[in-house]
Amino acid sequence: MSPRKRTLRPRSQAVDEAEAYYDSAEADAFYQNIWGGEDLHLGIYKTPDEDIGEASRRTVTTMAAQLVDLGPNSSVIDLGAGYGGSARVLASTFGCRVTCLNLSETQNDLNRDKNAEVGLSDRIFVTHGSFEDIPEPASTFDVVWSQDAILHSGDRPQVLDEIARVLKPGGRLIFTDPMQSDDCPSGVLQPILDRIHLETLGSFAFYREELCMRGFAEVSVTPLTNHLRTHYARVGEELRHHYDEIVALSGRDYVENMLQGLRHWVDGADRGYLAWGIMDYRLAA
Ligand SMILES: C[S@@+](CC[C@H](N)C(=O)[O-])C[C@H]1O[C@@H](n2cnc3c(N)ncnc32)[C@H](O)[C@@H]1O
Repeated sequence: MSPRKRTLRPRSQAVDEAEAYYDSAEADAFYQNIWGGEDLHLGIYKTPDEDIGEASRRTVTTMAAQLVDLGPNSSVIDLGAGYGGSARVLASTFGCRVTCLNLSETQNDLNRDKNAEVGLSDRIFVTHGSFEDIPEPASTFDVVWSQDAILHSGDRPQVLDEIARVLKPGGRLIFTDPMQSDDCPSGVLQPILDRIHLETLGSFAFYREELCMRGFAEVSVTPLTNHLRTHYARVGEELRHHYDEIVALSGRDYVENMLQGLRHWVDGADRGYLAWGIMDYRLAA
């Protein structure tokens, strides 16, 4: 079946889990306080003790610097846009229009408020929905952008079909995703998968093969896995530093569970089982 035709499949169980999680007051309080309410993805660190917000913002500017062709007539969709920090960088840097597609209405409300505060509501459009079933017509966007969101899908091939459908011919896909390494043994990531209610993670090889099958060519793939390790270690440190404050907002169970989850990510990175980086592809014209 052509990827340009919309295939309506039931949304995966993982989408329901992600929506309930990101809408919860516990998660919202944690992410807003530890990242600062703009970015909610892995950072690129100058030093291992750098501020999480600054390192996270560097990931956005590093990706944006790869999109030199963007301008006021360009349209971008950010899949799993979180609080919309990246959309505000893109709209204010390039003057482009950005559609933020995101599952969490808790985050979408904050995104809309922040866009209004900085006068970007006429350039940034916030839509509630799932990237497994993008509520947009075919061949609409010059760029599909996504940061650390596609891991939450229970059906990544379906997400990639949807990306190929909504991109204009010749359009760019630029994204990051916490992944497993290409040679990761089976079973070793179970503690990570269980905590985020997933059966698998993507990998550089998975995305390369699946995107190639859908008519994409690689522009560049930049492995940055060392920053994944630094990031989860930094978040753990920051959470321990603000332990009582976050326990008061999110509850002790949430915080303890998060600390354990962060230790699993750091451990997985130390053992060489994880991967992260910037993947930049172009759809055939
Ligand atoms: C780790 S956060 C990253 C947020 C944002 N991309 C950023 O970098 O700041 C993951 C995001 O994916 C969103 N998400 C998860 N599953 C989704 C789905 N099926 N469709 C749309 N958004 C989804 C969540 O609501 C959350 O905002």
